[in-house]
Amino acid sequence: MTQLGPVAWPPAPIRTERLVLREPEARDRAAVIELLASPEVGTYLGGPRTRDELESEMPGVPSRRPGLFIVDLDGVMIGQITLTRETGHLRQAAGKAELGYLFLPEAWGGGYAAEACGAALDWFARALPGEPVVLATQTANVRSMRLAAKLGFIEVERYEAYGAEQWFGMWSPVTPVD
Ligand SMILES: CC(C)(COP(=O)(O)OP(=O)(O)OC[C@H]1O[C@@H](n2cnc3c(N)ncnc32)[C@H](O)[C@@H]1OP(=O)(O)O)[C@@H](O)C(=O)NCCC(=O)NCCS
Repeated sequence: MTQLGPVAWPPAPIRTERLVLREPEARDRAAVIELLASPEVGTYLGGPRTRDELESEMPGVPSRRPGLFIVDLDGVMIGQITLTRETGHLRQAAGKAELGYLFLPEAWGGGYAAEACGAALDWFARALPGEPVVLATQTANVRSMRLAAKLGFIEVERYEAYGAEQWFGMWSPVTPVD
């Protein structure tokens, strides 16, 4: 993973109808550990991390970096979105920004991930105009597949990796019409 690029970071908190996208704070630490230790969240991501490991490794303020947004609902973290520069697990992905999303299971099914990812992509399109975004997810991850389609990602290819079928998609920003 390399730096996202020449973006002004952090942006002012991004507000959507119900959510705020912002940098991690010390008050998010427990929820970030909960997220990364959740077996449900880790089902299609190689499994969860252990709580002990996370507790000992995570700094007081969960790590901050350009492209990493905490998704906040009424002052409480419900998920995390990342836009990272991909070093190339697939040739088409090399050097492109990749979207990742992880939400706490109690926040699934409310449209929050779609609302937050839409806002993150909107921020990205303004920060790095004209750049596409890529996404890889297991085809068995039905919720993730539905979300990718809803966000406008188009299938580029499917491939086998980590013992499962993977879906690789790409999102292109809409060019404004004058
Ligand atoms: C992938 C993930 C983010 C999807 O979360 P999600 O809540 O299903 O996604 P959305 O925000 O699109 O919500 C969709 C659901 O909200 C419902 N919904 C309820 N109120 C809504 C509203 N106001 N607006 C929009 N949708 C709404 C939709 O009908 C839909 O319901 P359904 O699941 O019964 O079809 C979540 O499952 C997750 O974090 N998984 C673990 C991490 C993971 O695998 N990430 C993939 C890494 S590549």
